[in-house]
Amino acid sequence: MTRMDASKNAWGQQETTETAPLESMAGTILIRAGGRRVDIANALKVRDVVFIQEQNVPVELEHDEHDADALHILAVETKTKEPVGTARVLDKGNGVAKIGRVAVLKEYRGRGIGQALMQAVLKTARELHFKSLILDAQVSVIPFYENLEFVAEGDVFDDAGIPHRRMSRAL
Ligand SMILES: CC(C)(COP(=O)(O)OP(=O)(O)OC[C@H]1O[C@@H](n2cnc3c(N)ncnc32)[C@H](O)[C@@H]1OP(=O)(O)O)[C@@H](O)C(=O)NCCC(=O)NCCS
Repeated sequence: MTRMDASKNAWGQQETTETAPLESMAGTILIRAGGRRVDIANALKVRDVVFIQEQNVPVELEHDEHDADALHILAVETKTKEPVGTARVLDKGNGVAKIGRVAVLKEYRGRGIGQALMQAVLKTARELHFKSLILDAQVSVIPFYENLEFVAEGDVFDDAGIPHRRMSRAL
């Protein structure tokens, strides 16, 4: 049985439980983790703008069956309560977690929100006793993940018309 088989939701949280904030940035952005339906809806709000509208990823590729099982990390604007950034974590078994769908709304980029999201992913993955993390990085964003000690490996491949490379790091 993997962590994904837990009965409450994929990460053992009750659907109705409020998720504790992980950290807040300069009092304006709250980072929180959850696996609730509302978290999926908020994550999709950001991903629809960033991946579907901005990067032209087809909706049928962007929305997949993994969202129901993923842990969603959200960056939320504290005043408006609107989501501005997101990432998701999937349990791939054998202590490996896969990070994906990392996105920050364009007008919020360049002020450390992506970095804070990823730090929250690292913290949460450690707490869940994962041993290593993998992700498929858009080639243009590899330096963002290198800053976080991920290392690129293997060949460039195409996903949704965008060149990607596998990256990984130990926890
Ligand atoms: C990639 C993304 C999530 C970064 O979010 P962000 O909030 O702008 O990132 P931060 O402000 O926390 O930047 C953290 C560091 O990464 C660097 N960085 C951010 N985006 C980068 C990029 N596209 N290429 C290279 N470096 C980048 C920053 O310069 C910063 O470095 P510094 O600490 O040395 O100054 C955001 O640009 C985004 O949503 N892009 C579109 C979606 C996307 O491509 N997602 C990745 C899919 S694999």
